Amino acid sequence: MHPNIQIIIEADYEAMSRKGAQLFAEAMRAKPNSVFGLPTGSTPEGLYKELVRMHKDEGLDFSAVTTFNLDEYYPIERESEQSYYHYMQKHLFGHVNAGESRINIPNGKAEDASKEAAAYEEAIESAGGIDLQILGIGMNGHIGFNEPADSFGADTRHVPLTEITIASNARFFASADEVPRHAVTMGMRSIMTAKRIILMASGEGKAGILRDSFLGPVTPLVPASVLQLHPNVIVLADKDAAGLL
Ligand code: PGA
Repeated sequence: MHPNIQIIIEADYEAMSRKGAQLFAEAMRAKPNSVFGLPTGSTPEGLYKELVRMHKDEGLDFSAVTTFNLDEYYPIERESEQSYYHYMQKHLFGHVNAGESRINIPNGKAEDASKEAAAYEEAIESAGGIDLQILGIGMNGHIGFNEPADSFGADTRHVPLTEITIASNARFFASADEVPRHAVTMGMRSIMTAKRIILMASGEGKAGILRDSFLGPVTPLVPASVLQLHPNVIVLADKDAAGLL
């Protein structure tokens, strides 16, 4: 394991989520106008739930933060229950005091997805880059919708989804046919230039890909493996996901 990668192993999903929220809140308190990179998926639901609790019970203040979500399906309506816009409202932004103008999620209905991607990347740069990037990890090692490929996709861009991702995300839709075939995803440059990264993983099903990502070679066939080259990464896993590390 690279010495720049810190591994935190918690007993279970709830403890992992609480630890993630604690680290997130510490970053917010240290720098109230932090820029956060945010994931969707089932992994961060517990993290968001705990952050909402901390906002309600402890007054955790989101008023000055800026956020950039990693990705959004394309095309998709904001109002669609499967959109990541909807996900973020449901799990976080509908319950905390983040300023709407500082919440950024790629527009799944932009007329030109490539222009939307370029503008999104510019907005991240104008905000000064990401202070703390939270990541999940796909079963195939994708981060955001940066799927296994022959090279690392540096730019924020319009991408096709792989069959494995369509199949894996079909559980959120009526059928696999309804999963959008494309997405706009933050590229590896924006992710890798984040000052700190916390990658969260839970459950036995993620053990193999965590091992491949952090103990195997750095290869675009396992996109998350590039994190081995980042100077400040925490892998925050529960016992089951960390089983092969
Ligand atoms: P999950 O997805 O949190 O639902 O496992 C992670 C991902 O695909 O990035």
